[in-house]
Amino acid sequence: MYRTHTCGELRISDINSQVTLAGWVQRSRKMGGMTFVDLRDRYGITQLVFNEEVDTKLCDEANKLGREFVIQVNGIVNERFNKNTNIPTGDIEIIVSELKILNAAITPPFTIEDNTDGGDDIRMKYRYLDLRRNCVRANLELRHKMTIEVRSYLDKLGFLEVETPVLVGSTPEGARDFVVPSRMNPGQFYALPQSPQILKQLLMVSGFDRYFQIVKCFRDEDLRADRQPEFTQIDCEMSFVVQEDVLNVFEGMSKHLFKSLKGIEITEPFQRISWHDAMKYYGSDKPDMRFEMKFVELMDILKGHGFAVFDDATYVGGICAKGAAIYTRKQLDALTDFVKRPQIGAKGMVYARVEADGSVKSSVDKFYSQEILQKMKQAFEAEPGDLILILSGEDVMKTRKQLSELRLEIASQLGLRDKNQFVCLWVVDFPLFEWDEESERFMAMHHPFTSPKPEDIHLLDTDPGAVRANAYDMVINGVEVGGGSIRIFDSELQNKMFKLLGFTPECAEEQFGFLMNAFKYGAPPHGGLAYGLDRFVSLFAGLDSIRDCIAFPKNNSGRDVMLDAPAPLETSQLEELNLIVKVEE
Ligand code: AMO
Repeated sequence: MYRTHTCGELRISDINSQVTLAGWVQRSRKMGGMTFVDLRDRYGITQLVFNEEVDTKLCDEANKLGREFVIQVNGIVNERFNKNTNIPTGDIEIIVSELKILNAAITPPFTIEDNTDGGDDIRMKYRYLDLRRNCVRANLELRHKMTIEVRSYLDKLGFLEVETPVLVGSTPEGARDFVVPSRMNPGQFYALPQSPQILKQLLMVSGFDRYFQIVKCFRDEDLRADRQPEFTQIDCEMSFVVQEDVLNVFEGMSKHLFKSLKGIEITEPFQRISWHDAMKYYGSDKPDMRFEMKFVELMDILKGHGFAVFDDATYVGGICAKGAAIYTRKQLDALTDFVKRPQIGAKGMVYARVEADGSVKSSVDKFYSQEILQKMKQAFEAEPGDLILILSGEDVMKTRKQLSELRLEIASQLGLRDKNQFVCLWVVDFPLFEWDEESERFMAMHHPFTSPKPEDIHLLDTDPGAVRANAYDMVINGVEVGGGSIRIFDSELQNKMFKLLGFTPECAEEQFGFLMNAFKYGAPPHGGLAYGLDRFVSLFAGLDSIRDCIAFPKNNSGRDVMLDAPAPLETSQLEELNLIVKVEE
């Protein structure tokens, strides 16, 4: 037997027991005639003690142990004199009587402790060592627990987990596909699924009624902190449902996850906002609702008073930061620099402080009378001590997005984005289409299978941009955690949708003929949603990047630096696949 206990298991009640432990040497220190070794495994750390006076030879051996040696020890559990209240095993130590080195280790490239000296690149290159660190392992444990909870919750509601293939054809989810050449079908390629969207809809046609799958999805898109080229969805679909049914089931599941994994009881219904209002009041389709700071439009109040910046703007709007009038000129200049960054792109920022006597002092006082400024104050319901920040611009949506960035920034500065507070929101009534400037055509905002709201169907021919969809996103703390829709289940309407999206009948037939055909054999009304598992876990774990809850993630260039992938293929392999590689200089 390699061990009787794990390194996280022994407590004061085990004193005087004879035990065998195995694990990795986290660190050792020599103090006088004593050597202390921290032995680590997945479950925790236990202190080992070697006493020179009792067994010199054994102590000499212990002094030779390097970091990350794999060892096995035999000994007696002893009550510690200097207790360590930071770890669960901190009351005890093992007085070692036998030591066996199971495997030596070369010096690791960084310290394997919570506070490591390893930079990002080196930790990713040696990810298997990084994963030995407590904090990283804890994220994977949370991920495991979440998938277990999801499976049991959905199982109890009658959902069936069905696996769908990974070698499929292209699915139009808006990103580029990763493709795989087929040796047996020269010149032809599979695509890796961006999501199992069409397949889960086909499962509804098959009568599966309630499907889910915890499934890998692949999207070749620009990477960010919340995006990986391969990521995991909790993908779900239900038959004979309307939007309300889907929202109810997944609101319930989310609440269950909060309760079982975080101990947080969310009793009230999730907030809801229409996409239109989310954009108008927060400049974002995923507003962070941990704080209010709603936009107030000021065109009526501030235009036409000789301040050209506002007079020439289509949109003038602002936010009111409670109690932030204490911001110094330097801090306000820094905020102005923030909105002027190229990624945000505002031209400038106007600010106004509400003074203790209720008067308003602004950076554009020479253009506005106190009377106008008071009107503005009323529009925000601002009080003494508040700070009003205003942006303006030609393009309404762009300016709102800039204001949204400013809202998030100042909220962070004011400590309003507490990682331990969670506010869940459904964003509903998304537009069915969005206009793509580049290709000068409408694109599906969610995906082409999303149904229009019945009351908007008449606008499909006349004003497609105004048609709202039965589509919804779940947003938690400003993160889009999930999204879905009620689908089109009528082949005629689906064909019309493809036409509006610019597919020729031939192209639609070639890509989706099987789906259109399936719909002719009795497709039930259906709808569903998919959560991003990685995003959900990171949110629960308070992580800044989803990478930290993925065992072997890709870096920002989409590379796995540990496996050194992607990599060129051998010529023989290329030949076998009938591929010729042309690399542009
Ligand atoms: P959608 O494209 O909105 O919908 O994706 C669902 C959820 O998946 C997560 N997600 C990602 N997570 C990490 N990295 C990525 N690159 C990434 N892309 C998406 C997000 C998102 O909310 N088939 C539909 C779902 C449906 O209609 O049922 C779909 O895939 O959390």
